[in-house]
Amino acid sequence: MTINTTVVVNIGQLVTNDPQRDGLLGLVEDAAVIIEEGQVTWVGEQAEMPSAPDRAQSCDAGGNAVVPGFIDCHTHLAFAGDRADEFGRRLRGESYEQIMAAGGGIQSTVAATRNASLGELTAVTMQRLKRMAEAGTTTVEVKSGYGLDVEHEKRLLAVAAAAGAALPLDVIPTFLGAHTVPPEFAGDPDGYIDHVIEAMMPVCAPLAHFCDVFCDEGVFSVDQARRVLEAGRAHGLRSKLHVNQLAHSGGARLAAELRATSADHLDHLDDDDIVALREAGTVAVLLPGVSFSMQLPQARGSDLWDAGVVVALATDCNPGTSNIETMPFVIALACLEMGLTPEQAVWSATKGGALALGLTDRGAVVPGMLGDLAILDHPSYVHLAYRPDAHAVARVIKRGRII
Ligand code: NIG
Ligand code: FE
Repeated sequence: MTINTTVVVNIGQLVTNDPQRDGLLGLVEDAAVIIEEGQVTWVGEQAEMPSAPDRAQSCDAGGNAVVPGFIDCHTHLAFAGDRADEFGRRLRGESYEQIMAAGGGIQSTVAATRNASLGELTAVTMQRLKRMAEAGTTTVEVKSGYGLDVEHEKRLLAVAAAAGAALPLDVIPTFLGAHTVPPEFAGDPDGYIDHVIEAMMPVCAPLAHFCDVFCDEGVFSVDQARRVLEAGRAHGLRSKLHVNQLAHSGGARLAAELRATSADHLDHLDDDDIVALREAGTVAVLLPGVSFSMQLPQARGSDLWDAGVVVALATDCNPGTSNIETMPFVIALACLEMGLTPEQAVWSATKGGALALGLTDRGAVVPGMLGDLAILDHPSYVHLAYRPDAHAVARVIKRGRII
C-alpha cells in the first residue's frame, strides 16, 4: 500500500452492487473498504481486512451505511436565472405547453443564460455542482441546451467542464443543441436542425461525450432527431434522447432503433416500447422529480424493471420541470411515488446511472472500480426513502479523497 491509501472502516452496512454477492445490492455488514491510488483494492468484512499501513488515511463511517457515490446521469444544470414565476403560473392552472407556446419555458432560460456573463454562469453552475457533491453525487452528466447558437452552446459545455475540473466530482458533458427552436429560427425547425448539424456540431462535439435531442410532440420530430443523432455519431458522440415526456410520440422506438445508450423521461410508454428498449439494450433513465414537480403521473418504473430493462434514476436538474439537485431525494421519490423498491432505487441511482453514461469503472464498490463512496448519515440505505427530508449524506469520498 502506498501513501495514497484510504481505509474506510466501521461501515455498518455496505452497498457494493457486486453481482458476485447476494441480492441486488450485494450487501456486506460490518464492512471495510481499502482504496489505493483512487481505486478500490479490497472490500469485505472488517474482521478480515488486511492490516493497513501506518501512513494510510482512515475514515470511520461510524457504523452507518455506505453506498457507491451517486451517478446523476441526466441534468441541465448549466443555466442562469430561475423560473419561479412560471412555476407559480402552473400551480394556478396553466400548462407547461401553454407557457412554452407563449414564449416562456426553455426560451426564458435561454434568454437569461445568453445574457449572463461567463463569470456569473460559471459561479451558479459551480454552486449547484458543489451542493450535488455534498449530497453524495460523484459523477454528473451536464447537458448544454440553453444556448442554442454556436457561441453559447460551446460556452455552456466549456463552463460545465471548467466547473467540474474545479470540484471533486466528474462531469460528463452532453451536447443538446436540439433542445428547442431558438427565436432566430422561429417557424423553421428544419432550418435549425441544419444549423445544429452543420454549424454547431463541429464546434461542440469535441467538448461532449454524448449527443441528445428533445424528441417529442411539439418539439423535434423522430426524423429530425434521427438526423441530429446520426450527425453526432459521425462526430464520435454516443446517443441519448429526451423522449415520450409530453406524449407517446415515437421517440422511445427511435432510441431502440438507434441502440441509443439511454432513452430518458419515458412517461408515455406502451408494452411494445418496453420490449423494444430491452432488446436494444438501451438504458431507461427515469426522472421522478419531473413528474413530482409537474404533478403528473410517474413513469412505469416497476414495469421496466420487471421486463428486464436497465433502469437509471437522475435529477434532471433544470429550472423548468425539476429544480432538484440531490439524488437521495430522487431515490425517495422513486420509492414513494414511482413504486420502486429501495434496492431498485439505490441500484438505479448508482450502477444504473453508470450504465446510462456508458461508464464501466464506477457504480459499484468492487476491486478495480473508482474509489467513489457516499457515507450516509443513516444506518441503512432504506433510510434514504424512509427519511426523505433528512440530511442523508455525512461524508463523500471521491477517487479515494475524503471530501
Ligand atoms: O428535461 N424536456 C426537456 N428539457 C427539460 C426541461 C427544460 C426546461 O423546462 O427548461 C426536461 O424536462
Ligand atoms: Fe432533461
